[in-house]
Amino acid sequence: LANQLATLIAQAEIRLDRSTGTLREQLYRQLREAVLAGRLLPRTPLPSTRDLALVLGLARSTVVDALDQLKAEGYLETRQGAATCVAALERKMLGAGLASRALVADTPPAETLAATVQEQRAQWRNDDPPRPVTLRAFRPGLPDIRAFPAREWATHLARRARHPASHDLSYAGYLGVPALREQILSHVRLARHVQARPEQVILLPSAQAAFDLVAQLVLEPGDTAWTEDPGYPGIVSVLRAHKARIDPMPVDEQGLQPTATGPRPRLVYVTPSHQYPTGVTMSLPRRLSLLTLARRTGAAIIEDDYDSEFQYQGQPTASLQGLDRHGCVHYVGTFSKSLAPGLHVAYLIVPERFVDLAHAVATVRGLTVPIHVQLALADFLEAGGLRRHIRAMNSEYGARMAILVESLRQSSLLTVPAGVGGLQLCVGWSGEPVDTVAVAALQAAGIAAAPISPMCSVVRHNGLLLGVGLVQQHEVQAAAKMTCDVLRRLHRGA
Ligand SMILES: Cc1ncc(COP(=O)(O)O)c(C=O)c1O
Repeated sequence: LANQLATLIAQAEIRLDRSTGTLREQLYRQLREAVLAGRLLPRTPLPSTRDLALVLGLARSTVVDALDQLKAEGYLETRQGAATCVAALERKMLGAGLASRALVADTPPAETLAATVQEQRAQWRNDDPPRPVTLRAFRPGLPDIRAFPAREWATHLARRARHPASHDLSYAGYLGVPALREQILSHVRLARHVQARPEQVILLPSAQAAFDLVAQLVLEPGDTAWTEDPGYPGIVSVLRAHKARIDPMPVDEQGLQPTATGPRPRLVYVTPSHQYPTGVTMSLPRRLSLLTLARRTGAAIIEDDYDSEFQYQGQPTASLQGLDRHGCVHYVGTFSKSLAPGLHVAYLIVPERFVDLAHAVATVRGLTVPIHVQLALADFLEAGGLRRHIRAMNSEYGARMAILVESLRQSSLLTVPAGVGGLQLCVGWSGEPVDTVAVAALQAAGIAAAPISPMCSVVRHNGLLLGVGLVQQHEVQAAAKMTCDVLRRLHRGA
C-alpha cells in the first residue's frame, strides 16, 4: 500500500504548498492535470481517501471534497464495489482538453501551426492600431478630449443608469434604440442632407466596425475594392482581412480620381467631405461620376464622414449619400471626433435594400453599443448638447487652425493649405530627408505628427499630418515655430 501511494503521488506530481491557495484546490488541480497529461493512466485505482489524507497530511474531508469534484467532472469514476479509479478517457479525447505533455505527438506539427498563425497575422494586420495618447501638439486623430462635456454627459448617463425602463436591460436596442436612431437621423438630415429611415441606421462601436460590416455585406474574397491614395490605413486593414484585392486610386485636388485600368470595383471607400489625409473636398462632378459608376456596375460606396462636423469657412459640402438615388452609398458617421473616441459610438446608414441583411450580420457578430450610453446619447442630442459642443469646438478648432496655418506659412519648406475644416492639417514637406525621419526628429523635440508617405500606395507624397485637437490655442504659435525650426535644422543637416 505504501508503495502504491508513493507511486501515485510521484506520478501525479503532487506538491502541496501551504502558503498559497486552498489545499483542496491544489489537490484537485494537480490530480486533474495528471489525468489530462496522461501521467495517471485510465483505470489506475486510487487509494482510499483515508490513506491519501494520512500520507498527504490533509484532513480527510479535504481529500473527499477534491475527489468528489473530480468525479463530478468526469476525471475519476467509481464502479460499484470497486475502488475509485481514473476515468477511462481516450487519449484522443484528452487532446481536446488542456495542453498536455503526454499528448504532444497528437498535436499538429509546430511549423503548421506557426504557418497558420503567420498567415492569419498577415491577413489581420492592423495598419493603424490604437496607441496611448500623448496630450501634446500636434497629435493628429483625436479631438480635444479634455473639453469633453463631462458634466452634462454624466447627468444624462446617471439618469438613464438609475432609472432604466425594464426593457432597457434586455436585448432591446441591440442595433440602436429608436430614440437614438431618430436623433442621429435628424442630426445628419440637417447637417449632412442624408436621407434615410430609422431602420437604416445601425449603431456600432466604431467607424471601423461599420467598414467591416459593409465589407461583410458586399465583398467576396478576391473582389476588387478601391481605396483613396493616400488614404486612411484603417480601411486597408479591413479590406485585407476580407481578402479583397485592394486597388488604390490617386487623390487630386478634386478627390478620388478613378483610373480606368483593372477590374471593376465591388466596393469604393471615400472620405468626400474632407479627404483623409489630404483634406481636399470631393468636387461635385467627381461625386456624380462616382455615383454613376456605382449605379452602372453595382458597386457599393462607403462614405466615411468622420469629421465633417468641423468647418471653419462656410458650410460643409452635403453628403454623397444625399445625392444617391439608387441605394449605392453606405454612410458612416462616428462620435469619435465630435465627442470622444472612448465613447465607442458610431453609426452606419445602409441603403434600404441592405437593411435586413445588415441587421442579421450585426446581430450574428454581436455588434452593439451599451444601452445606457445609447439612451444617454439620445437625451444629450435631444437636449441640444451635441449641437452646442460642436459649435463651441468648431470655433475653438477654427482659431487653432488659423494660427497654425499662419505660423507654418513662414516656412518655405512646407506647402500649407487653407485649413478650412477637420481636426488636422496636411502640409507638404519639400525638404530632406523623408517625412518619416522628419516626424521622428519632431517627436524628439516634443512635437507629435504623422508622416504622410506611409499612407501612400502608388502615389508619392512627402508630408506631415498635424492635429489641432490636443493643442491649446495659446500653445499653437510656439509649437508651430518649434516645428519649423526643427524641420529647417534637419533639412540643413541633410
Ligand atoms: C478617416 C477616418 N475614418 C474613421 C476614423 C475612426 O473612427 P472610429 O474611431 O469611429 O473607428 C478615423 C479616426 O481617426 C479617421 O481618421
